[in-house]
Parts: sequence; C-alpha cells; structure tokens
Amino acid sequence: MPDSTVETTTDDRPTPPRITVLGTGYLGATHAVAMAQLGFDVVGVDTDPAKITALANGKVPFYEPGLPELLEQSLASGRLRFTTDVASAVADGDVHFICVGTPQSKSGHAANLSYVEAATTAIARHLTHDAVIVGKSTVPVGTAARLREIVAQQAPAGVRVELVWNPEFLREGKAVHDTLHPDRIVLGGVSAYAEAVLREVYAGPIAEGSPVVVTDLPTAELVKVSANAFLATKISFINAIAGVCEAAGADVTVLADAIGHDKRIGRQFLDAGLGFGGGCLPKDIRALMHRAGELGAHRAVGLMQQVDEINMGQRDHVIAMATEACDGSVLNRRIGVLGAAFKPHTDDVRDSPALNVAAALHLRGAQVTVFDPQAGDTARATFPTLSYATSTQEAVEGADVVLLLTEWDEFLQADPAQLAALVGSAHLVDARGKIDAATWRDAGWSVRTLGRAA
Ligand code: UDX
Repeated sequence: MPDSTVETTTDDRPTPPRITVLGTGYLGATHAVAMAQLGFDVVGVDTDPAKITALANGKVPFYEPGLPELLEQSLASGRLRFTTDVASAVADGDVHFICVGTPQSKSGHAANLSYVEAATTAIARHLTHDAVIVGKSTVPVGTAARLREIVAQQAPAGVRVELVWNPEFLREGKAVHDTLHPDRIVLGGVSAYAEAVLREVYAGPIAEGSPVVVTDLPTAELVKVSANAFLATKISFINAIAGVCEAAGADVTVLADAIGHDKRIGRQFLDAGLGFGGGCLPKDIRALMHRAGELGAHRAVGLMQQVDEINMGQRDHVIAMATEACDGSVLNRRIGVLGAAFKPHTDDVRDSPALNVAAALHLRGAQVTVFDPQAGDTARATFPTLSYATSTQEAVEGADVVLLLTEWDEFLQADPAQLAALVGSAHLVDARGKIDAATWRDAGWSVRTLGRAA
C-alpha cells in the first residue's frame, strides 16, 4: 500500500509517485539520481551487491562527470536509497523504471533480453498495489509487447498495472545533463492514466520546454534504435567520404565544416576518424540488423551492414597507418597509444576502437604501451596483456610511432616538442583528427590523419 505521505489525485494517482529504478549501471544510476534531484523519493535496485554498496556509500562505480556530487546530495537529502531487495522496493513504489542492460548476445547480433525479462518478472511478481512499469532500456521492436504478457501472467490479481516504454537518449560523459534536460520525452503505449503519471514525473523538464512525443509501443522502441542508427550512419558516411578525401588529396575536416553549415545536415557527428564504439551504437545497429531481418525489412539490414563495415574498416586503416610508420612491420616495434576509452570523458572501454587497435597491434607482435587519463583500470581489466603507463610521457617513451586514439584534452594540449625528445621516432597517427598538425610538424613530427592525403 502507498504510505501515508502519498496523497492521491481525483483519478486515484499517487502524488508525488514514489519511484524505483531497476538496474544501476550508467543509465539507471544516473536516472535514479536525476529523479531524486527532481524531488521524488527514489529506490535504486540492482542484483549486484557491490554496485549497491558503492552507490549507497556515495561512490559511483564508473567515471561520469558531475554524477558523484549529485549522488552525494541526493543521499544526504534522504530522497534516494539503494537496495538489492527488489520485493520491498517494488512494494514501496508506484512507478518502476527498467534500466537494465541489453548487451549484444554472445552467439550473434541479437540483443540479450534476459535482464529486461528478469527485471519485468521481478517487478510484476512483487507488486502490492497499482503501478506503472516504465521501460527505458534499448530493446528490439516488439519486446515491450512480450513483456506485457509476462506482466499479465505474473502480477497478482486485483492489481492494476500498465507497462509503457520511455526510451532514454543520454550520452555517456554528459549523462547528468541529458537526463535532467532531455531534448525529447517519448511516451510509448501510455493510457491517459500512465501519461498523467509520467507527465508528473517529468514535470520539471516539460516546464523547461522538453517536447513530449506520445506514441504506440513499437514506435517508441524504434525511435531509440533509429536515433542511434542515424548517428552511426552519419559517422560512417563521413568516414567513407574521408576515404575519398585521402585518395583525392582533399581535407575531410574542412569538408565537414562546409557541409555542416547546411542546417539540414548539421556539423555534429561529422568528425571523421577511428569511428564509433561504446556500449550503445555498435550493439544497437547490430540488434536493428537482426530484428529488421526477422521482420523482412532487408533494406535496413543492408544499410546497417555497410555502416558497421565502414566503421570497423577504420580500425584496420589505423593499424595499416601504424604499420606503414614502422616501415611495414610492427613486430618488436614500440608503439605508444594515447587513449583507451571509446570517447573522452568516460572510462568505458566497451567495444572501444582505441583499445581494439591497441590489442590488434599487440597481437601482431608490437610492444604496445597505453595511457588513458580515466580508463586505465577498465582497459587493464579487459586487456590485461597490454602494458599500461601512468602518463602521456611514459606511454610515448622510446616509441617508433605514437597513436592518438581517444581525443582527451590532455593529449590535444600536450607539448609536441617535449614529447619529440622522448620518442624513438617522431611519427604520429592522429586517428581523431583533432590535433594541430602544423604545430606538431613544426616540432619535428610526421603526422598522419584520416581523411587527409599523406
Ligand atoms: C550514444 C548516443 O549519442 C546517445 O544518444 C544514446 O543514448 C547512447 O548512444 P554514447 O554511446 O554515450 O551515446 O556516445 P556518443 O557520444 O554518441 O559517441 C559514440 C561514438 O561515436 C564514440 O566512439 C565517438 O568517438 C564516435 N564519434 C562521435 C565519432 O567517431 N565521430 C563523431 O563525429 C561523433
């Protein structure tokens, strides 16, 4: 039963609704903190006791700028707590957010839905009063309809429960901002009752002007996947054009600036380079490929296949550039790698292009030393056989070639003259196209960039 501090509206809605968040990874931990910041009572739930203990003690188990401070504030306010006890959390909540992961399955391109199914089952079984279950995880279209069947089977008789979909679009590194100030709020499959509940939950961002899109379940599921597929396509488009630029002696960065002035195109996500990685874009385009194939929508499969191939090809291209800088073989050559995270401002190395290139060169017999300002520990846990430095200087010492693979500010601001004095040969491959090549060349470096002639 709702506790005595919760009132109800004329349509019987508990107000303010008490919130539970299942799954406390990047998405869930940020969402739980954001909901507490918006003034709600929130319980974060996870099956991993280590994560829950860390969060309950004010420690964010991953690097996300701004989140530790807000976590501490929210815990101190008494509005946020964490538990592994899903039964009591669900019994005390009115709106239950599903924020668990949907990783690529081990055996193919499909998304692994076991965590989403387990979370839905757990919520449904432990309901004690009317509730709204809100899916936020990225899922293949059709999943929510199946989850509704699970809810119908598992929920106790007499409890009114509705499962809706409300995808999340947050970027790692900007997760707090994106969660508190979403550029759109998509509500899929909502009744008037659930819509009213969610409009109350998001009253802050809605008042700030975040547009609300109300739609059916499959559209809501597909909005998320399509947004990521479009971003991935944009990156692979510019990387394909980068190949043309290299062959034709043109400059892809200037080209991207010029086409980006067209508002219909826009400059964002047109940075050519090593391509996309991370926990979302690669697995989402593969899950879309798989699901579109099941549905017989083969054009989308072909398009995503090309996007994926162009993206993975960029990694091979950088490996080839490194090999060329080492006169044709990397065997026993020293390679300094700057960057391991899939992008700056995160310690996430899931499907990181940087770490992938470093590991591939290591497997070809190179002596690879990696430095990343934040992702050293996560990288070491993933690829323990690489050697890791604690500074840019240490990583490049004695190197035959230096590869800039993640564009952290620290690397872009490094002093090329100081680094030139430390390396064996001053060859740089700037795989993100972000350094000031003229300054580096003046300091004695040869610089190769993707999308510009050698
Ligand atoms: C992405 C989406 O942006 C976000 O909306 C969604 O909710 C989750 O997936 P994220 O994975 O955090 O977010 O990273 P994003 O900032 O999109 O970058 C993805 C990858 O693309 C990174 O590896 C980045 O280096 C690469 N990238 C990005 C480029 O190669 N070129 C660009 O121009 C932009």
